[in-house]
Amino acid sequence: MDWTTLIRPELEPMRAYQPGLRGSEVRERAGVERVLKLSSNEHPAGPFPIALQAIAAVAPHLNRYPDGSCRALRGRLSAHWGVDERFISVTNGSNELLRLIAQAVVRPGDEIVYAWPSFVVYPMVASMFAAKPVAVPLTADQRHDLPAMLAAITGRTRIVFLCNPNNPTGTIYDRDEFEAFLAAVPAHVLLVLDEAYFEFVTDGAYPDGLGYFDGERPVVVTRTFSKMYSLAGLRVGYGFMPEPLVSAVDKLREPFNVNTVGQIAASYSLGDQAEVLRRREENQEQKTYLYSCFDRLGIRYVESHTNFVYFMTERPVEVFEALLGHGVIARDFGNAPALRLGVGTPQDTATCVAAFQEIVGRLGSI
Ligand SMILES: Cc1ncc(COP(=O)(O)O)c(C=O)c1O
Repeated sequence: MDWTTLIRPELEPMRAYQPGLRGSEVRERAGVERVLKLSSNEHPAGPFPIALQAIAAVAPHLNRYPDGSCRALRGRLSAHWGVDERFISVTNGSNELLRLIAQAVVRPGDEIVYAWPSFVVYPMVASMFAAKPVAVPLTADQRHDLPAMLAAITGRTRIVFLCNPNNPTGTIYDRDEFEAFLAAVPAHVLLVLDEAYFEFVTDGAYPDGLGYFDGERPVVVTRTFSKMYSLAGLRVGYGFMPEPLVSAVDKLREPFNVNTVGQIAASYSLGDQAEVLRRREENQEQKTYLYSCFDRLGIRYVESHTNFVYFMTERPVEVFEALLGHGVIARDFGNAPALRLGVGTPQDTATCVAAFQEIVGRLGSI
C-alpha cells in the first residue's frame, strides 16, 4: 500500500501535538522522587471540592450516555455570563472547538492569521484543513502586533486567531489596541478570541472578549474549564458564537462529545466563584515571588497575566535539563531562547526558586 497516496498530503508536513513530559518519565529519567509538572499550564491544585463531590455522586450513573446537548451546563454558563444559551457551544476541551470552528468555515487555500509564538494548535488547524498558516511575529516585548496582523489580512483570510492572554508569553493586548483592530477588520474575517486564561487576568485594561460579542458579528470567544477550574483531565471547553456557527459546530461534533463527569464537574465548579477569586490571588502571589527570584538572579522574564511565566535563556536545552534534574518540568520550544514555567503551589515555587539558585550558581548566568 502506498500510504502517501492515501493519506491527505497536507498532513505530511504537520507534526502531531507534543504534550510536555509526564511526571513518571521524569521520575525515571532524572531519578528524583518529587516531580513538579509545570509544563502544560495546568492548575497545581485538584478540582474544586464541590466538583469532587459531584463527580463521586455521578459515578454510579455512568452506564448512560452523556447529555448530548449539554443542556444543564449551557444553562449554567448562560446564567453565569448573561448570554443566551443558543449562542453557547460546549466541547471536549476548547481545543476541539478551535478545530470544529475551522472545519466549519475553512476552504482549501484560505488563510488563517495568528500571532507567533502563540498556541501551537492554530497552525495545526490551518494545515488540517489545507489552509495557509500566516504567522505574524509578536512585538519585541512579546505582545500581539495587532497592526501587523491587520496588515496580514487578505481577501483569502478566513480566520484570525487572537490568544489573549497569549500562550506562551503570558502577555495581553489592551482594550484600546483591540478596539482599533476590531474597527478595521474586514467583514469577511471570522475573529476567534481564545481566552483560555481569562480567569487569571487582573489587569483593568484587559478587553473581555464577551464585551464585543453580540451574536451577530463574526466574533467567537472560547474559554475552558482546564485551567483555573482544574478540570484539564475531563476536557470541557466552551465558546460563544453566532447561532449559525453553533449549528455548524453541532453538525460536525461527535455525538456525546462532552462526557457526563465533565459536564457535571464544570456545572458545579462554576457555582464556586469564591474559589476562583482565592486561586487568582494565590496565583498572583506565587508569580510575584517567582519574579523576585528572577530579578535577584538576573533572569529576564515577561510579566504574565496567566498562570505561567515565560523567561529568557541563552541556553534553553541546558537549563531545561538542569530543571529536570531538580524534578521541575518546564516547557521548551526547541532552540528558541526561552522557556515557560507554570506557576505552582507555594511549595512548588520554593522548589523552583531553590532550583534556579543552584543552576545560576553553577552555570554563572543562564
Ligand atoms: C491558549 C490556549 N487555548 C486553548 C487551549 C486548549 O485547552 P483545552 O482544550 O484544555 O480547553 C490551551 C491549552 O493549553 C491554550 O493554552
